[in-house]
Amino acid sequence: MRARQIKPGVHWVGAVDWDRRLFDALIPLPDGTSYNSYLVQGSEKVALIDTVDPAMIHLLDGHLEDVPVIDYLVANHGEQDHSGSIPWVLEKYPEAKLVTTPKGKDILMAMLHVPDQRFVTVGDGETLSLGDRTLEFIHAPWVHWPETMLTYLAEERILFSCDLFGSHLATTDLFVTDESQIYEPAKRYYAEIMMPFRASIEKHLARLEGYDIDVIAPSHGPLHARPHFIVDAYQSWVCEPPKNVVVLPYVSMHGSTQMMVNHFVEVLADEGVTVRQFNLADSDVGKLAMAMVDAATLVIGTPTVLVGPHPAVAHAAFLANALRPGLRFVSIIGSYGWGSKAADQLKAMIPNLKAELLDPVIVKGLPGEDDFRALDELAHTIAEKHRQQGFA
Ligand code: FEO
Repeated sequence: MRARQIKPGVHWVGAVDWDRRLFDALIPLPDGTSYNSYLVQGSEKVALIDTVDPAMIHLLDGHLEDVPVIDYLVANHGEQDHSGSIPWVLEKYPEAKLVTTPKGKDILMAMLHVPDQRFVTVGDGETLSLGDRTLEFIHAPWVHWPETMLTYLAEERILFSCDLFGSHLATTDLFVTDESQIYEPAKRYYAEIMMPFRASIEKHLARLEGYDIDVIAPSHGPLHARPHFIVDAYQSWVCEPPKNVVVLPYVSMHGSTQMMVNHFVEVLADEGVTVRQFNLADSDVGKLAMAMVDAATLVIGTPTVLVGPHPAVAHAAFLANALRPGLRFVSIIGSYGWGSKAADQLKAMIPNLKAELLDPVIVKGLPGEDDFRALDELAHTIAEKHRQQGFA
């Protein structure tokens, strides 16, 4: 895609990656992604805000073909999908200064071996004049790393928000054209990237209320010409209480755990609880992460493998622990043949989940009447707790 004008003198010069299917060798990208780089031309100086994944340098090179000078290269974030082409830009524009936070400097020196003399570090709230345009730098630690900042172009009221408000979506649309279409990629992105840092994001959202913003230009996915849509979505994901939802990732090897899951889900549904179940033998972990954004309860279903949980279940538990969703209740159901410590091992894997642990239901062999009654009881307890807390 060619360079696109956002406003006079402000252009998108990034790269759309239609074919990428995995990020960080972990996160599925069903709809590809983009690495958004922005060129801001003032009356006296020119700034490039962020770069592109190094695999796509050729596209950035094409966009900058007719740009003879870049005075400032602004690095909002050190992760390589945005910073990876910085050395190439600095070589192409030997006069350019690299503008970042003090922590950003430390990270970029370590990751990319950028020499000390190329940096200009900026404090929180500091501004940089491009002549008739001014960039303001807003330190925003933990969106996504501790060094991250946002850049605000005051005269045009554009917020270059880096990973915040982004979405992994390859599209020819510069701006969001269908908000119902962007909602899921944006929520998935929030779940995978931002959810562990909810407390920080809540503070950043409050601070951004003090800025007059016409356009949000994130580092991934299309831009928002109606910023309230994505800001309101973030407010709901970050600030609202969980919903009357159980997320149930599970695996079954010989059918016992599957029988338990089937029964348990039916009873929860009868109790009026929405269940999102994920058979981890064939599930998209991004969807699982997304389901945990507003779920009140996580129930993990596992057979026993060599005394412990199934490795696929352990992987899901590890992710849940790392992503730190705002769950209120957790439980475990599952089965074993000759012996199991699966429940204890799983409990030990999720210390970050500040949730009440409800008694697990672990069954020897095929579940029988008593076991189904125990599942009924667990389902009833969950539904009752959701009702008591007013989760709707
Ligand atoms: Fe899109 Fe944290 O990088």
